[in-house]
Amino acid sequence: MAIRNIVKDGDPVLAKRCRPVEQFDARLEQLVADMKETLKKANGVGLAAPQVGVLKRVFIIDLGDRMIEAINPEIVKTSGKQREVEGCLSVPNRWGYVTRPKHCTLRAYNCKGEQYEIKLSNLEARCACHEYDHLEGQLFTRLVDEFVTFEKE
Ligand code: NI
Repeated sequence: MAIRNIVKDGDPVLAKRCRPVEQFDARLEQLVADMKETLKKANGVGLAAPQVGVLKRVFIIDLGDRMIEAINPEIVKTSGKQREVEGCLSVPNRWGYVTRPKHCTLRAYNCKGEQYEIKLSNLEARCACHEYDHLEGQLFTRLVDEFVTFEKE
């Protein structure tokens, strides 16, 4: 496994739509394993493949006790609303309020090519929507209705 470089805002790779994964092979497993290491090291909640420069429809979310690997994900159902402060590993030192669904159902494949569905709420639902947007080439900053600044100490 290897830590990969996290691409930062301004890099055109973050503005592109990602392609579906067609082969569930060792290369995909390597990508996901590397993304997990990279996310842990960066102390983030979620990471999408374009953030490590790979234009494939893959993201991961850290649920605390385990990580979800979402290959070719779809958000099939949403409900409710939440407005919270959001940030992104690719957009350092910028945070802002974004309104997202409070609950969502994520349908995706794991690395082995097995399809699953999972219901997510609150931070996890927010994270799934944020990571999904990365696969569409969109950053959270376009949804922010109010940026916040934190005092530096
Ligand atoms: Ni992000």
